[in-house]
Amino acid sequence: MLVPEPPMALLAELTHRCPLKCPYCSNPLELERASAEMATGDWLRVLDEAAALGILQIHFSGGEPMVRRDLPVMVRHAAGLGLYTNIITSGVLLSDEAMTALLDAGVDHIQLSFQDSDPANAERIGGYRGGHDKKLAAARRIKAAGLPLTTNFVIHSRNAERVGEMIAMAEALGSARVEIAHTQYYGWGLLNRAALLPSREQLDSATEIVEAARLRLKGVMIIDYVVPDYFAARPKACMGGWGNRFLNITPSGKVLPCHAAETLADIDFPSIRDHSLAAIWTGSDAFNRYRGTDWMPDPCRSCDRREIDWGGCRCQALALTGHAAATDPACARSPDHFLMAQAVGESRPDAELVARG
Ligand code: SF4
Ligand code: FES
Repeated sequence: MLVPEPPMALLAELTHRCPLKCPYCSNPLELERASAEMATGDWLRVLDEAAALGILQIHFSGGEPMVRRDLPVMVRHAAGLGLYTNIITSGVLLSDEAMTALLDAGVDHIQLSFQDSDPANAERIGGYRGGHDKKLAAARRIKAAGLPLTTNFVIHSRNAERVGEMIAMAEALGSARVEIAHTQYYGWGLLNRAALLPSREQLDSATEIVEAARLRLKGVMIIDYVVPDYFAARPKACMGGWGNRFLNITPSGKVLPCHAAETLADIDFPSIRDHSLAAIWTGSDAFNRYRGTDWMPDPCRSCDRREIDWGGCRCQALALTGHAAATDPACARSPDHFLMAQAVGESRPDAELVARG
């Protein structure tokens, strides 16, 4: 067996608790309860093991990572180990006191999500009244602290026409980077797929606006654009390849190659409470099952892109075809590619959204 390179980054899902209820959330439908969450000491041990394994970046995420009062303790520990620390947050809990504590702890970067540029629609989507103003205040605090600000907007049928306003808002807030990310359909997003999928016209118009803004804002603000798989001809290299560069740890300590991996019910995902991170990364069936290219069926097996996109996304292949080892249907070479157009054809932009639990 080949010994894999060390992972580059760890996504630490500290909790599934969140004050918001976004219907596109990629958390699993079975959210882990607060009582199942790992204690501070467990997470500090994870950080020690991550640094020893050669990981460079820790992304503290959730749910909303700021509901964990011990977040500054973890950030301080990670920073002390020389790890780059990023917090992925909705910002509604980022008070002056919380900002000061994180800054003292040595946080490197904060990524702040917005649901829309239009406050009323943002609060409708997030299910949190007063949230938009709190997020704007959080953005100002991040800037005042001298940290680089990344703003994030998730795009779908209910906000796609305001991509231009979102970019303008990110610029006005002084973002170094903005992510205009079409919804990825996992977890709650998959449940709400028919209601969230944009039309081809919405997608084309959003893409045109992003391309023009990229030219205008060159050297001022980076615009990352994530397109929806459902309109693509080639799949994304999900997680940079299974077990290749990233790992996820769930609130209760399960170690996963990606955030949706637990949908692959035939894999027994190991817990960091029972095994070392290094043993899980190099030796577990969970990480080796779809690592590299040996597992691939045709057309991936003989395709010249197999080490570029790694056959796409296992979780999407399972969700759409029933087979995790199938070629991702986002690929035009997949015999199941028609399923993507079928889903777009079945979209119902007026359907009611199911709020995340
Ligand atoms: Fe990627 Fe497989 Fe499609 Fe080739 S056939 S482009 S490797 S998903
Ligand atoms: Fe699991 Fe893509 S989300 S492999």
